[in-house]
Amino acid sequence: MLSLKRRKVRTPDKVSIQPQRMDFDFRDVPRYWAMNDPVVTHLLNALSLTFPDGERMFVDAVRAFRDQVQDKKRQQEISGFIGQEAMHSLEHNSFNQMLSEQGYREEAEGGQQLAQTLIAQGRKRLSKKHLLAATAGLEHITAILAHRLLTDPEFIEQLDPSVRALWLWHAIEETEHKAVAYDLYQDVSANYRLRVSIFLTATSFLASYTTRYTWAFLKRDGVHRKPLTLAKGMWRLFGYKGLISGTVVDYLQYLRPDFHPWQQDDSHLIAEWRKVLEQHAPQAAA
Ligand SMILES: [Fe+2]
Ligand SMILES: [Fe+2]
Repeated sequence: MLSLKRRKVRTPDKVSIQPQRMDFDFRDVPRYWAMNDPVVTHLLNALSLTFPDGERMFVDAVRAFRDQVQDKKRQQEISGFIGQEAMHSLEHNSFNQMLSEQGYREEAEGGQQLAQTLIAQGRKRLSKKHLLAATAGLEHITAILAHRLLTDPEFIEQLDPSVRALWLWHAIEETEHKAVAYDLYQDVSANYRLRVSIFLTATSFLASYTTRYTWAFLKRDGVHRKPLTLAKGMWRLFGYKGLISGTVVDYLQYLRPDFHPWQQDDSHLIAEWRKVLEQHAPQAAA
């Protein structure tokens, strides 16, 4: 039995990790639903393709070690994490289905198939501890993207109302449960070199996957031949305070040996955006 180490930072008590079934209905979603920008939209579409299988893998990675946690609050957090990720998988599955119906069947199905294959290979080759390390690292990436979103009301305003609640809901819940896999990894191993090397490897897989599928979506639309549109989208991602460039400082925090996800206390963002979410999706008030 592993002992729970005392850590200074932990998930704040006021943050509750509760799964919610949302049953989103993605109707009349415009083709470029994020900032009316093909590059930004397709990057987020490509990310969505990884979620159903990726998040199922996260659930299994955490479930494999949950019996080793004695603390009642931590057990509740783990149950909340498992429930939330299971719901994210379901909702992104229907989002991805909507992409197929928008005319991106080849990209949506091919992308999900590739994600499935890569994850199946990972499950086969890596130990349970390695899979937990990968989950903790990828959860850091989702948490910093969520932070980027939740600190940019103008960006959220530029998400089409037909999908805004999905991305808002997902970002809020990723923030709520951002430390669950990390804390469990620290209990199970606390091996810094393994944590960091798997994080860097997982980042490179995710970056090459999303680049490949963002490009595939853009190619389907013929946007790959429009340099000005591409340049504008790239600036929004990688320019000054861009969607990706704006996460670099947070990304690097994971390399600190004493890192903990709640060194950045986002609990006020959760509270503020939960109120907004309830207006967009009343089922979120439950
Ligand atoms: Fe998720
Ligand atoms: Fe997550």
